[in-house]
Amino acid sequence: QRLKTTANITQSFDWIRSSIVFTLPHTDIDTQYQTGTTWTQEIVDLLLHNGDAKACMRAPTVQRIPFLEIQAPPPIPSGLELLGSMKPPRVIKTHLPIQLVPEGFWKNKCKVIYVARNAKDNLVSYYHFDRMNLTQPEPGPWDEYIHKFMRGKLSWGSWYDHVKGYWQEREKRNILYLFFEDLKEDPRREVERIMRYMDLSVSDDVIDKIVQLTSFKVMKDNPMANYTFLPKAVFDHSISAFMRKGEVGDWTNHFTPAQSQMFDEDYARQMADVDIPFRTSI
Ligand code: A3P
Repeated sequence: QRLKTTANITQSFDWIRSSIVFTLPHTDIDTQYQTGTTWTQEIVDLLLHNGDAKACMRAPTVQRIPFLEIQAPPPIPSGLELLGSMKPPRVIKTHLPIQLVPEGFWKNKCKVIYVARNAKDNLVSYYHFDRMNLTQPEPGPWDEYIHKFMRGKLSWGSWYDHVKGYWQEREKRNILYLFFEDLKEDPRREVERIMRYMDLSVSDDVIDKIVQLTSFKVMKDNPMANYTFLPKAVFDHSISAFMRKGEVGDWTNHFTPAQSQMFDEDYARQMADVDIPFRTSI
């Protein structure tokens, strides 16, 4: 059923080919999926446009900030094709683990913003995303999905290796390592941190505006940021909205006590070699 839907996708993507592509400074936003990528993309885009809401309504997120490794059936442009039609400097999104990031990113000293999210909330968010994203394999039952996550058998590989890879390289490669939980706790502080990292300076009023425009509620209602611009054959929001809850701690509504204990024991083993300050509540 899921494979069949891709046949209908091609026609729906005409807007990508016909729309204007903007030139942006060359910054890379790296994440595992469902960690706050879209949120960070919106913050970065607004910082680059001095908080101008209209500028950020000019096109859907995927077009403003192309997704490096995304492939689609022709004639839908791939992420690389879209990027090829933009002049550097550009903003790029990727979910690639650090070892697969093209060498040119490091050689050209691209700014790299990495966004991580605690494993349990990330897993919950993956699960609902895999339900509604019809280009992903069926998630199957929740209990089995937890095991797939722990074994790294999901798209973009092991969560554990992903977050560790960027963490271990963050100082050497000047990566800004952000946490979803920090964004939730104090969005203003995190917007300012991103601004400084990007060598930008905007007024306090503009920062307030950016915090407001990138709140969950505003982004959920923004058709250029909430992924309703994709056809239903790709993202079926009637199954689960892309902008689903945007909370820290939703995992408590999904894990049973036994699942939580089993997950924590495995987590302790897999993360024994690092000390990344993830928080499962704020
Ligand atoms: P939930 O499924 O927990 O709601 P990504 O963009 O990396 O795919 O991440 C998607 C997750 O980030 C979803 O999490 C989505 O709701 C959440 N998200 C997106 N924008 C957000 C915002 N402005 N505030 C809080 N959460 C946001």
